[in-house]
Amino acid sequence: MVEQCRLIVFGRFPAVIVQTPKLNADTARELITPSLLVWPESIDANIDRIVQIAGDPGRLRPHCKTHKMIEVAQRLVAAGVSQHKASTVVEVDMLCRAGAKDVVLAGNPVGPSLTQLQQVVTAYPQVRISITADAEGPIRQASDESLAAGISLGVMIDLDVGLHRTGVTPDSPNAETLYKLVQSLSGLHPAGLHIYDGHHHQSDPDERTAAIQAAWQPVESLIHRLESADLPVPELLCGGTPSFPVYAKFENPRIRLSPGTCTLHDVGYGRKCPDLVFDVAAAVATRVVSNAVPGQLTLDVGHKAIAADPPADFRAVLPDLPDAEAIIHNEEHLTVTTEHAVKYAPGDLLFAFPVHICPTVALHESAIVIKDEVETDRWMIARHRILRDV
Ligand SMILES: Cc1ncc(COP(=O)(O)O)c(C=O)c1O
Repeated sequence: MVEQCRLIVFGRFPAVIVQTPKLNADTARELITPSLLVWPESIDANIDRIVQIAGDPGRLRPHCKTHKMIEVAQRLVAAGVSQHKASTVVEVDMLCRAGAKDVVLAGNPVGPSLTQLQQVVTAYPQVRISITADAEGPIRQASDESLAAGISLGVMIDLDVGLHRTGVTPDSPNAETLYKLVQSLSGLHPAGLHIYDGHHHQSDPDERTAAIQAAWQPVESLIHRLESADLPVPELLCGGTPSFPVYAKFENPRIRLSPGTCTLHDVGYGRKCPDLVFDVAAAVATRVVSNAVPGQLTLDVGHKAIAADPPADFRAVLPDLPDAEAIIHNEEHLTVTTEHAVKYAPGDLLFAFPVHICPTVALHESAIVIKDEVETDRWMIARHRILRDV
């Protein structure tokens, strides 16, 4: 699988070629479709590469929102990665169970999520837990709840460096005001700055690097202002899959890198950013459910099984149907036109490589683990929102 699914990129306009994974006949026959498949050897290769790019596992704080699987988090922990990032309280809980020593909940939690988080913080006193925030209300609530629970919660101030999703801009006085507020409130301590930049996915790595460097200047000025006011800035939590290799080259010991997608990787990033050389470690197994219309195949991989946020005509790559063009993508069905339709009958197995793996994973309750072409295990996906075990 490592060889078969390696992204092959060529030319000025990158293309992604993924090949049909091999499965042993019994596994192939028994697969209930649609189902998510993962290849641990490819995940391990990706983890090795992530650590290699970071230069040291201690510089990493990978985001678990893509894999959402304790077994993947445990593999990262075994590779020496003790700091992790999460987007839900349930993910924080999963990371604590996986053996993480330090977890940041980076979704700017509010209201009942903050209340739920206290349960995890109390259940795992050995794990340092922090949140990100960009407003006074949630910071004050976090302080009240932490005081009531008798704990101290780290707070990172969330910066907007151009994505315009959350965060205060580094050059506004708000960033300092909020940072000072955290420092002043009981039950909280300042944990640094959160600098997520999902808009930096330029295909040309030089353009990407230049854009990241330009956006970094106001962050440096803010750090200087904070430190001049005796406010400690212990961590700068930066980036995602396309940008973490750039931050990895910054010589700042406080930088932590938070790629997420590249533990499993996907066709979307592979195509957009050809310099990112990771294995595609997950696919969705699907079967033909109809070939009734000549020249068409309908597969059971609707948008309840594969992410629908990319444009409707490019949500999956089907290596067995290289000419496939999607014409209908409904909840349970994907209908494609293809000149290969005559070769297939209802029940035949195919593989769909998602363009966007992160939401695809969250559509599945578990992933089927394939080793040496055989199903060897099932890994549960922490996609629920309510804590079950704490
Ligand atoms: C806050 C935050 N950090 C890190 C990441 C990881 O980015 P990527 O998926 O590019 O690896 C994401 C992705 O959505 C994110 O929202």
